[in-house]
Amino acid sequence: MIADVVIGLSYGDEGKGKVTHHLLKSGEYTHCLRFNGGCNAGHTIYHKGKKFVTHHIPAGVFFGVKSIIGPGCVVNLEQFHSEVEELEANGIQARDLVFIDVGAHIITSDHLEEDGGETAIGTTKRGNGPAYRDKYGRSGIRAGDTPSLKNSPYLINLYDELHSGLLSPCVLCEGAQGFGLDVDWGDYPFVTSSHCTTAGALLNGIPPQAIRRVYGVTKAYDTYVGAKEFHGKGRTFDLIQQLGNEFGATTGRPRQCNWLDMRMLRKAITVNGVTDLIINKVDILREVGKWNLRSYTGDRIYIQTGNEQSWKQYIKRYLSETKVDISFSESPERI
Ligand code: IMP
Ligand code: MG
Repeated sequence: MIADVVIGLSYGDEGKGKVTHHLLKSGEYTHCLRFNGGCNAGHTIYHKGKKFVTHHIPAGVFFGVKSIIGPGCVVNLEQFHSEVEELEANGIQARDLVFIDVGAHIITSDHLEEDGGETAIGTTKRGNGPAYRDKYGRSGIRAGDTPSLKNSPYLINLYDELHSGLLSPCVLCEGAQGFGLDVDWGDYPFVTSSHCTTAGALLNGIPPQAIRRVYGVTKAYDTYVGAKEFHGKGRTFDLIQQLGNEFGATTGRPRQCNWLDMRMLRKAITVNGVTDLIINKVDILREVGKWNLRSYTGDRIYIQTGNEQSWKQYIKRYLSETKVDISFSESPERI
C-alpha cells in the first residue's frame, strides 16, 4: 500500500480541500479516506469552475475515486445523506462511491442538542464533542451497529477493503481541522475532539511504512474560529478577513485573523513529518500589501515585517532544517 496524507497545520480552513482535489487529478489514487472529525468540517472545493462545500464526503467522489469515511470519524447520517443527494443533484456521482466504515461513530440527536447552545469554547454545534466523548466513554453507537445502515450500500469494512491483498491500494488520506485544533497538540481546551495529525491517519488502519508524502497545508496568515481571542489589533486584520473571505464554510462565523505564527508552523511540520508544505492565499496578502509574520526570540514574540521577497526568504530560512518542500500558492483551484 501507498498512502499520502493531507493535513492542516493551523486551525482548519487552510485549504486542505483544494490540495486534496488537486492531488486527485493525478489519477493514481484508488481510495480517498477521511480520517478524523465530522460535519464540523467545511471543505471548499472548486470543481470544473463550480464551487462545492463538503462536510462529510471525501473529495475522491469528484474523480470517481472510492471515498471512505474512516473509523476515526463521527457521522451525522442525515447530513451525510443530504450531502450525497446534493452532490448527485449537481452532477457528481456519489452514491456508489462513498462509504462509511463499520467503526465510525454516529452523531445522535442527543449529541446535537447538547452541542447546540452556546459552548464555552465556541464549537461548530455539530455534536462533535459529545459524540467523541461517548465513543471514548464506550457508550457510543457505531455505524456497523446502526440498523438503517446495516442493509444499505454505504457500509464498508475498511480493513477488508484495504488489506484483502487483492490489489495494492494507493490511498489519499484527507484530514479535517488542523494542528492548532488537535485534541493533543492544539491550544487545549480550545480544540476539537479528534486527531488532526498524520498519526490520526495511521489510527484508521494505515500502516506507518505505507506513508509516502505528507502534504501540510497552511495559509499566508493564520485564521481561527472559536471563543478565544485571536484576531490581531488594527484594521489590517479586518482587511485580510474581507479580502480573504474569511467566514466559516460550516457556520458562516467570521474567522479571526492574525499573522502566520512561524514557531507553531515549524512545530506542526516537525510533529507531522510534513514533506511538502503548501502556503495558500499568498495572493490575498499581496492585495493587503503587508508581508508580516509572527516570530520569536526565545519566548518573546515579535512581528517580522518585510516585502514579498523577504517574507518568502524568511519562511524558507526559518524552516530550512525541516527540509520541507515549500509551494506558495495563489489560486483557489491549483497548488
Ligand atoms: P467542534 O469541532 O465543533 O467541537 O469545535 C471545536 C473548535 O474547533 C471550535 O473552535 C471550532 O470553531 C473549531 N473547528 C471545528 N471544525 C473546524 C473546521 O473545520 N474549521 C475551522 N474550525 C473548526
Ligand atoms: Mg473549513
